[in-house]
Amino acid sequence: MDGQELAEQYRNQGYFIVVDAVEPDLLDLLETAAWRVVDKVRSGAVVDAAEGVRTGGEGVEPQFVSGLIAPEFDEPVFAEYLGSEALVRYLRPLLGDELRLGWVHLCAIAGDYQCGWHRDVGPANRDNTYEKEMEMLGTYRKHMVKWHMALVDDPCLWIVPGSQKRYRTEREHQCMLQDPQGEIPGALRVELERGQTIFWDGNTVHRGVKPEGMGDRLSLMGGLIDHRAEYQDSEKGDQLWMLADNLRPSLPEPTRGYYDSWRTLAEPRVAG
Ligand SMILES: [Fe+2]
Repeated sequence: MDGQELAEQYRNQGYFIVVDAVEPDLLDLLETAAWRVVDKVRSGAVVDAAEGVRTGGEGVEPQFVSGLIAPEFDEPVFAEYLGSEALVRYLRPLLGDELRLGWVHLCAIAGDYQCGWHRDVGPANRDNTYEKEMEMLGTYRKHMVKWHMALVDDPCLWIVPGSQKRYRTEREHQCMLQDPQGEIPGALRVELERGQTIFWDGNTVHRGVKPEGMGDRLSLMGGLIDHRAEYQDSEKGDQLWMLADNLRPSLPEPTRGYYDSWRTLAEPRVAG
């Protein structure tokens, strides 16, 4: 399928999976850098800082590390990856040519992991009326695309294809409110092989569950944004660390350009 056909699948089914959104050499570098990040967080060599990187706590077992592009990690390969042509060519048909950050997080989970059925719309939006839900699905996060890229085989994500553009079913509603790991008819377990990337719409009903017997989960989770779109507070998340003075000079192009675009719009909202 070409980029336009994949974009069509994204709009209809809420996702597409490709094997070549990262160059093989870069994949190897990303994996070894990610294991080093795990060690640096675990050993306390890089610690969570109020205005610096985000590791999830001090000297903790890492789970979600969101400061991967921070110079404290000394792993410039993550910022390089965000600007790599192999990746960005899949984003252009959906977002256009002008991009802004965005994120690249590391999901590194050695132990058990479960995250119940939800859409990425916040817990307050799990019980909406038909009108409110459809309005939200039609507008929310339409200007961004997120993805997971497996650094080791990763079968943890489940999605309900097509659910990003329709009202929830009774069963989905029940699962989102009361039965977080219940079965949903039509749900798909995404079995990503190392190096595969799923680009997917967070409005899709989805969950995460690590199967018994699986080794470490080690996946990158990224997002980039169409810079023609207005800045939304829903982009904000935990971005204060990205205002640190040492970040920008450490970024290569075009990631530095994404950063500048982000900063122009976000600085007053994030810092304020
Ligand atoms: Fe989610």
